[in-house]
Amino acid sequence: MLLHLRNVLTAEELQTAQSLLRDDAPWMEGRISAGSQAATVKNNSQLSQSSAQAKQLQALILSALKRDALFFSAALPRKIFNPLFNRYCGDANHFGPHVDGAVMHSQATGEWVRTDVSCTLFLSDPTSYDGGELLVQDTYGSRGVKLAAGDAVLYPGTSVHEVTPVTRGERVASFFWIESMVRSDEQRRTLFELDMNLLKLRAQLGETPETTALTGVYHNLLRQWANT
Ligand code: NI
Repeated sequence: MLLHLRNVLTAEELQTAQSLLRDDAPWMEGRISAGSQAATVKNNSQLSQSSAQAKQLQALILSALKRDALFFSAALPRKIFNPLFNRYCGDANHFGPHVDGAVMHSQATGEWVRTDVSCTLFLSDPTSYDGGELLVQDTYGSRGVKLAAGDAVLYPGTSVHEVTPVTRGERVASFFWIESMVRSDEQRRTLFELDMNLLKLRAQLGETPETTALTGVYHNLLRQWANT
């Protein structure tokens, strides 16, 4: 499942993020943090994880995610990898097809995080650069994603994906992974669909004995499937 999350960041948060990620930020070669397969196709820059800018931005993004109900419903997060930041421009402008490692070690927290769900949070105005599409392969073919600054996409951690070459301007984004309380994509999707349709039913009908009962079904499924 690919899911578009709109306005994850407020206009003010976006401005803070953009100003902390200018040219004078500690950008490093992205290849150094990639696994051996990904390193052969990765050609971008990445913000030093231990920098003051990264720490400030990580806190900003994690607090934005906390207030996002759609993010919570879709990802059912148990752990969130500390958000990372990358930049595509000039000669360091693409990341070819790869899969992310199944388990990632966070330098910031010392934690291991299983990568059930991947997230890219776009930080550059899409009219300011050409290319730089996130392509996610699924059974139906490749899906191209290029979103407004401040919007994010959730996609399965299991997918082969790439970022196409940026041929004008620069594309800055945050990316991170979520270890979900519900490991299975299929179960997580079932819960998400139930939750979203319950919201609609409540908006149409108010609280009825059926919406109450179906809310019970949601929680009983979550209780069966969740690991906390
Ligand atoms: Ni990746």
